[in-house]
Amino acid sequence: MTSSAATPSTIYLKDYSPPLFTISDIFLTVELGEEETRVTSELQMKRLQDGGNQIHLHGEDLDLVSITVADRLLDSSEYTLSSKDIAFLAPSDDFTVKIVTRIKPQENTALEGLYKSSGNFCTQCEAEGFRKITYFLDRPDVMAKFTTKIIGDQNKYPVMLSNGNLIESGNLEDGRFYNLWVDPFPKPAYLFALVAGDLGSVEDSFVTRSGRQVKLQIFVEKGNEDKCAHAMTSLKKSMRWDEEKYGREYDLDIFMIVAVSDFNMGAMENKGLNIFNSKYVLASKETATDADFDGIESVIAHEYFHNWTGNRITCRDWFQLTLKEGLTVFRDQQFSADMNSAAVKRIEDVQRLRAAQFPEDAGPLAHPIQPQSYVEINNFYTATVYEKGAEVIRMAHTILGEDNFRKGMDLYFDRHDGQAVTTEEFIAALEDGSGIDLKQFREWYTQPGTPEVFVEDQYDPENKSYSLTIRQQNPKAGPNAKPLHIPLELGLVGANGDNLLTGIHGTGSEIFNLKEKEETVTFENISEKPTPSLFRNFSAPVKLKQNPADGNMVHLFKNDSDPFNRWEAGQRLAIKCLLDMIESPSQNALPQSFISAFGDLLDDESLEPEFKAAAMTLPGEQFIGQQMDIVDVDTIHAQRQNAIKTLASTYKDKLQSIYQSHHGKDSVGDRSLKNSALMFLTSLKEEEFINLATYQYFNADNMTDQISSLSRLVVTNHPNREKVLQDYYARWENDALVIDKWFTLQATSYRDKAMEDVQELLSHPAFNYLNPNRVRSLIAAFAAGNPRHFHKTSGDGYRFLSDAVIKLNTINPQIAARLIGPLGQWKRFSEKRQNLMKAELERILKAPNISNDVFEIANKSLRN
Ligand code: TRP
Ligand code: ZN
Repeated sequence: MTSSAATPSTIYLKDYSPPLFTISDIFLTVELGEEETRVTSELQMKRLQDGGNQIHLHGEDLDLVSITVADRLLDSSEYTLSSKDIAFLAPSDDFTVKIVTRIKPQENTALEGLYKSSGNFCTQCEAEGFRKITYFLDRPDVMAKFTTKIIGDQNKYPVMLSNGNLIESGNLEDGRFYNLWVDPFPKPAYLFALVAGDLGSVEDSFVTRSGRQVKLQIFVEKGNEDKCAHAMTSLKKSMRWDEEKYGREYDLDIFMIVAVSDFNMGAMENKGLNIFNSKYVLASKETATDADFDGIESVIAHEYFHNWTGNRITCRDWFQLTLKEGLTVFRDQQFSADMNSAAVKRIEDVQRLRAAQFPEDAGPLAHPIQPQSYVEINNFYTATVYEKGAEVIRMAHTILGEDNFRKGMDLYFDRHDGQAVTTEEFIAALEDGSGIDLKQFREWYTQPGTPEVFVEDQYDPENKSYSLTIRQQNPKAGPNAKPLHIPLELGLVGANGDNLLTGIHGTGSEIFNLKEKEETVTFENISEKPTPSLFRNFSAPVKLKQNPADGNMVHLFKNDSDPFNRWEAGQRLAIKCLLDMIESPSQNALPQSFISAFGDLLDDESLEPEFKAAAMTLPGEQFIGQQMDIVDVDTIHAQRQNAIKTLASTYKDKLQSIYQSHHGKDSVGDRSLKNSALMFLTSLKEEEFINLATYQYFNADNMTDQISSLSRLVVTNHPNREKVLQDYYARWENDALVIDKWFTLQATSYRDKAMEDVQELLSHPAFNYLNPNRVRSLIAAFAAGNPRHFHKTSGDGYRFLSDAVIKLNTINPQIAARLIGPLGQWKRFSEKRQNLMKAELERILKAPNISNDVFEIANKSLRN
């Protein structure tokens, strides 16, 4: 484990300086062993600039065997070892270094560097894991050509993979086997990968548009080969889409994906050898939900798209992380929108942003998409860098328009291929390619916080002119923050529901470039007072605080031609009603206007079923909480459930007929709408519907239906609950991903006994702190998805979380740190809860051997 007792230091963007030396080539020999793995690294080093002869190669938790510089073995007086690096003198401007080290992957529970998962070797080097494999200049602006020789026991490790092309294989004199891989593309060490094990595989091929044949392989644990078809299809679709949409072709002869069951994140874009959390590869209709299928499609695409946005063009330093992540998330969002319902995809993207990024941006961990400092870079793989980063690219796309955006992207690829660059260089390429000025737009990279937009309108019937006065502010960015360049996509909806503006390409929407703290937009020849539909398609990641249409959301909910805003109108309407009910529970019931708008929605035959299901879903408890000064978790829960019940009892017949008419049909939309109806019906707690859910559970031929019905029973105390939970466990015991869902359902249940359930689940034989998916399925799911019990005023929920953080701090610091988030929201809760939450953060800070990861998050979370 890490033993660095020094207080963690902060790294600043302003301190960036290019390296004195670079490494042009590395020849890596990795001898895999059960006791230890021996790594021999031969480096070709070259001076880049003057500034002395001191060389510092990063290295952590390594056991140094020898170091040879320019063919001379150094004795221990000629180098200095610290817990972070090895230092020695450069003998000239161009020389070789050979370093031999030993590591113990089998003891690596942090899952960073080289580690073992289910008996197989694999790596995770982003962001700074390569330094746990060997000494190196482990920074993304050092790009080297990698040659990798893997040596091991062929019986144990018949599959031995690394980046690039397989050049040679054979037996060594001592009986061991070797594979030699050469990656012709220079790359930073974070993109290095190695996998070895007894894996099964499926193979396919892809012909690029210039006619090159690419071999596609997916490696999985034996027995899972039949669950790769969707991942393979998604990969081929991604490859085609990137050619068609961005003109980007794949560049090696082989593209490999490996699924592993122990992985800290979703997946990793290592050059030519992506490594995936098995959650984002393995699927069959029996074991994976429709949402899981979508997740696989988008993560496969995401990692594949990194080949151009991340690998061919990489980041100069880790402050530029959003350069590759924001852009690649935007690209995978575009892809998924093209492959599926674009409207539903956009709704889901925004829900995710609001659920994860808005709270981050409003809390003590707020940071700009380009942070200015960090203690531990692993802590900056955040919703802000990824999701808000993607929104920023989307705004650039909106401002430039499709064609100009493509010109800017083309120039970016042209100009920077093979380089490690900054977000500034990216924006400059967009400007130069499109001819459009983005000077003010750059503010989005440096301001934290979610901007607030206030709008007032005025209609002058005499002159037939309509105007909107728009004010923006970003409180989190401080009083002197410059106004942001915000693209406002809007339509004006007439009394009959039609768009009054022609809009761009006849869409009924126009785009305005807001650049002032306050400005007025005026429309002439408007024959009636319109209802404004603002921020269509969520054209900017802002909070619309005051909207002149608020009193008329029913109109937009029925008529808006922009599907996102149609959904949004329903959400705004629901939020308004729910907040009233929460404020004075005894006086306010769900208003009739909302009830009848909901009925009209159910009746509307013109809507896609999946969209209808999304529009039927009331805003989540956390999102409701975000609208309150002090989050009252119990009343929010109670009143949201009341609203659901009111709607369910009013429309019981309609909901039943929706259920019946979509049952048995085999499409994503049918399932989502049917299961949405089931959710409303079961909220009535009538035996008939409990039986319906039970029947659905036992007769489902797909995981979506199975999990939907199970989830409805898990929130009850009905005897069927135990029956189905036990059945599910017995049926799926041997499928870890399916059992993860079993943990999550119980962790997120709002039934009274849920706190005890989760506590008991900790000692369930299938619970395992070493497996991140399992930890997330129980602990993170509870803390992030069970507000009612996490915020128990006994403090049990908070303690449950901090106990786990302290435990995981030494096992897997990255995972431990990622769990803390919900405690950092203390400011938003009652004083009693605040004190309890802060006490747990303090307790975490006293953890023995506290990691940098946990220290940084817990410490910052206590700030105001
Ligand atoms: N670059 C990965 C992505 O596609 C993120 C990632 C995977 C990661 N594994 C990680 C980041 C481990 C930090 C640590 O988004
Ligand atoms: Zn990524």
